[in-house]
Amino acid sequence: MSSRFRSTAATFPTGVTVLSTVSDGEPHGMTVNSFASISIDPLLVLVSVNSSSRTYERIVQSGSFAVTVLSDGQQEVARWFANSQRPSGADSFAGVSWKPAPHSRSPVLLDGISYFDCELDQAYTAGDHTMLIGAVRAYDVLSDRPPLLFVRSRFTELRK
Ligand SMILES: Cc1cc2nc3c(=O)[nH]c(=O)nc-3n(C[C@H](O)[C@H](O)[C@H](O)COP(=O)(O)O)c2cc1C
Repeated sequence: MSSRFRSTAATFPTGVTVLSTVSDGEPHGMTVNSFASISIDPLLVLVSVNSSSRTYERIVQSGSFAVTVLSDGQQEVARWFANSQRPSGADSFAGVSWKPAPHSRSPVLLDGISYFDCELDQAYTAGDHTMLIGAVRAYDVLSDRPPLLFVRSRFTELRK
């Protein structure tokens, strides 16, 4: 039942992001495709995260997060930040170029195509996930590269 639901939901194509935060001075990030922009006035975005993920705990603790939208050259980065065996903290960012976001100081991946720097505004538990609504404090486009896409459990790229 749940695997059929997963494969049905996976027909919906999405972009791919890395959701990040800094808690107790340590950066942390995870791959997320549940990102959506929600409101213009005020500026709000949404991510839906598994309530048992390390990232969820850390965002609740820090009260802020950043979302970097990945480019088509970042498939390995997306796999890495989804790998449950990766270390946590600064070690998980070794080999990844990043800078602290202007407001939250959460890692923004420099090879991404855009970012949103957010304060945690509201959190709604929905089943095994929690919807985190972020009030956007800073944002920018970093590059005009095409986005990385994800559909039917596979990474793909835009075709012209
Ligand atoms: C393309 C892709 C998209 C993902 N999107 C989400 C998501 O939206 N929410 C979520 O909770 N997990 C998502 N995941 C799974 C997490 O990245 C994975 O469970 C991660 O290891 C959690 O890390 P953490 O426990 O350190 O927070 C996604 C994985 C992939 C490959």
